[in-house]
Amino acid sequence: MKLLVLGGTVFVSRAIGATAVRRGHEVTCAHRGRSGLGPVGVTDVFLDRDVDGDGGIAALGDHRYDAVVDVAAQDPRWVAEAIDVLGAAAGHWTFVSSVSAYADASTPGRDASAERVPPLDGVTPEQERYARAKRSSEDVVLQALGEKAFVVRPGLVVGPGDPTDRYGYWPARFTRGGPVVVPDVLDAPTQVIDVDDLAAWVVTAAEHRLVAQLDAVAPPQPLRDVLAGSGGGEHELVGVSQERLGELGVRPWSGPRSLPLWVPQPEMAGFGARDVTASLAAGLVLRPLAETAERALDHERDLGLERARRSGLSVAEEREVLRALG
Ligand SMILES: NC(=O)c1ccc[n+]([C@@H]2O[C@H](COP(=O)([O-])OP(=O)(O)OC[C@H]3O[C@@H](n4cnc5c(N)ncnc54)[C@H](OP(=O)(O)O)[C@@H]3O)[C@@H](O)[C@H]2O)c1
Repeated sequence: MKLLVLGGTVFVSRAIGATAVRRGHEVTCAHRGRSGLGPVGVTDVFLDRDVDGDGGIAALGDHRYDAVVDVAAQDPRWVAEAIDVLGAAAGHWTFVSSVSAYADASTPGRDASAERVPPLDGVTPEQERYARAKRSSEDVVLQALGEKAFVVRPGLVVGPGDPTDRYGYWPARFTRGGPVVVPDVLDAPTQVIDVDDLAAWVVTAAEHRLVAQLDAVAPPQPLRDVLAGSGGGEHELVGVSQERLGELGVRPWSGPRSLPLWVPQPEMAGFGARDVTASLAAGLVLRPLAETAERALDHERDLGLERARRSGLSVAEEREVLRALG
């Protein structure tokens, strides 16, 4: 199969390109080259989706691909332009969206038929932009190419290559001893997906021309089990209330001074509790969490366990929190 990945140099799209090469497909990755090249074995094409004319997506106009994968995160116009140039000739089209596109993050057990956030408009607040851009981009794909499109909505993508430092915080933290600060919502339903499981499903979907809208996450597990499966089974976990964490300046989810995997409860109890029965029936295959944790830890070791992190608590910050608890 001739596969075009729009992107292909970073985490998710890179894993998709690498998986497709391993399966013997002829893969092109189209990007600006600012974040390096695509994986070994692909053909890199340099273009800028912000540029009109030959330096932009139009450069691909003479090409025909059996399948196209687009991960565009912010701008539905990029998605529309790619479809204008490539959509008619493509045999299959995957758009990598996000579970953030769903309107209701509080109700557990919702599936891919759930209502989505409103589309982008001129007054969309900045904090809603990502989710609503995904929604609008999905609409562009579904309206133009609904009969050959796979809209896949991943939850938290984890594993080697993650540029956000989120999930890797936990396997890295558990390599050190001592009490571990955790949010005291250990029953909170939690879902992740290994980047290579997502990539494998996207490539399989292209091979089989899957037409669907589905979520890409593992079935929910309590946060307690995810932490245990990520190397935390033998550690002393110090549960801190969400309120106290907030007072101590510790943020949920991501960023500096955060506890990744923690999403505010009960307001976001549905975020990590999506029903993925249909995804599993449609070919999503998941490796054991312990394997993902091991792979994420290898990546953490490559980056350096002592580095300044994009997400999580530093050693000093965790000590400060423990001291404040008395
Ligand atoms: N990580 C998660 O937990 C998670 C969860 C749900 C959904 N997702 C979705 O998964 C996708 C992640 O994609 P990703 O990991 O591949 O990372 P990404 O950062 O979205 O990848 C961007 C790719 O597009 C290229 N690119 C950026 N600007 C460009 C431009 N102006 N013209 C042409 N190419 C451009 C980049 O290469 P250059 O910079 O070299 O051009 C890179 O290859 C996103 O859509 C995200 O919303 C992620």
